[in-house]
Amino acid sequence: MKSVADAPDALLNTRDTPPVVLTSELRKVYRTGFWLNQKVLSLKSCSLTVYQGETFGLLGPNGAGKTTLLKLLLGIIRPSSGRGLLLGKPLGDRSVKQCIGYLPENPYLYEYLTGWEFLQLAAGLFQIPHRVQRQRIPQLLELVGLSSFDTRKKQMRRYSKGMLQRVGMAQALINDPELVFLDEPMSGLDPVGRYQMREIILKLKAAGKTIFFNSHILSEVEQVCDRVAILAQGELICTGSLNELLGSSGTYHVKGQGGDGEILKQWLPSLVFNSDGSWQGTLQDDYYDFLSSLRLMGGQIITMNLSRTSLEEFFIQQIQQKNNSLH
Ligand SMILES: Nc1ncnc2c1ncn2[C@@H]1O[C@H](COP(=O)(O)OP(=O)(O)OP(=O)(O)O)[C@@H](O)[C@H]1O
Ligand SMILES: [Mg+2]
Repeated sequence: MKSVADAPDALLNTRDTPPVVLTSELRKVYRTGFWLNQKVLSLKSCSLTVYQGETFGLLGPNGAGKTTLLKLLLGIIRPSSGRGLLLGKPLGDRSVKQCIGYLPENPYLYEYLTGWEFLQLAAGLFQIPHRVQRQRIPQLLELVGLSSFDTRKKQMRRYSKGMLQRVGMAQALINDPELVFLDEPMSGLDPVGRYQMREIILKLKAAGKTIFFNSHILSEVEQVCDRVAILAQGELICTGSLNELLGSSGTYHVKGQGGDGEILKQWLPSLVFNSDGSWQGTLQDDYYDFLSSLRLMGGQIITMNLSRTSLEEFFIQQIQQKNNSLH
């Protein structure tokens, strides 16, 4: 397992892009109860680095502390201890807000405003000139798939959950941010909506933006993220690129013909011969040497498919391991 200690920070000096998010032992204890005398430890000691241009996925079960970490990074709440930098400035520094976009987990959108009015309001907060607003708002509505919907007339209390999520996404991009935080961007979206959200994320990535997002939809994360981190019970349990975590190689299902059965068996312990004379089996990792050996034996490959652990399988293994270690 890759540990936090050896994953991102070890790479710090070898990356050619600067870190845009850097945290060191960030910790958050919420105080609750009437006298604020009860404590909830939400984030234990989070050290994390996200580099410019990366699409970074923060995963974790419900209550793991993902939203808490996002809010700490955005300066919405203050850490109990630890430090962090966002675009080179200490957490909470107001000057970076111009360069940041944020889609909250449950976006509170003023329901008596129309979608258009809400986007104008958001643009106004960034002091975006009306001339620019008139161009940008329709572009963003097009991007989030709301251009055919009457966003100028309909108040947002009449929008579906997925439509609100899309307005929330347009709002997050209104200032053309270089760093975008998305808390569960796929939440409430139908399959087409999820596909569109993935396309938006890929477009932002192609435009060189850094994207930091929380998600439970691991198949989507697997398709768009450069690196991921898994948070469980307030603790980062692993961080790395998908190749580092899932392996760039894995198990190959090989079907072939010819060659020496005895030698083949050494490579493919599960070797079976089919009635048509072909054989099949599974090979672990070192396919290059296997192919050389097969060529020397005069054998041939018919098909060879790689199957590696999915992010979902990996995630469940990690969470189960973490739960077992606590019992
Ligand atoms: N304002 C708050 N006051 C007290 N405790 C809180 C507060 N906000 C969050 N918590 C607690 O902190 C822990 C982490 O919550 P958080 O919302 O960060 O989790 P999450 O990983 O985003 O979960 P989900 O996937 O359900 O969105 C939970 O135990 C939660 O109850
Ligand atoms: Mg959350």
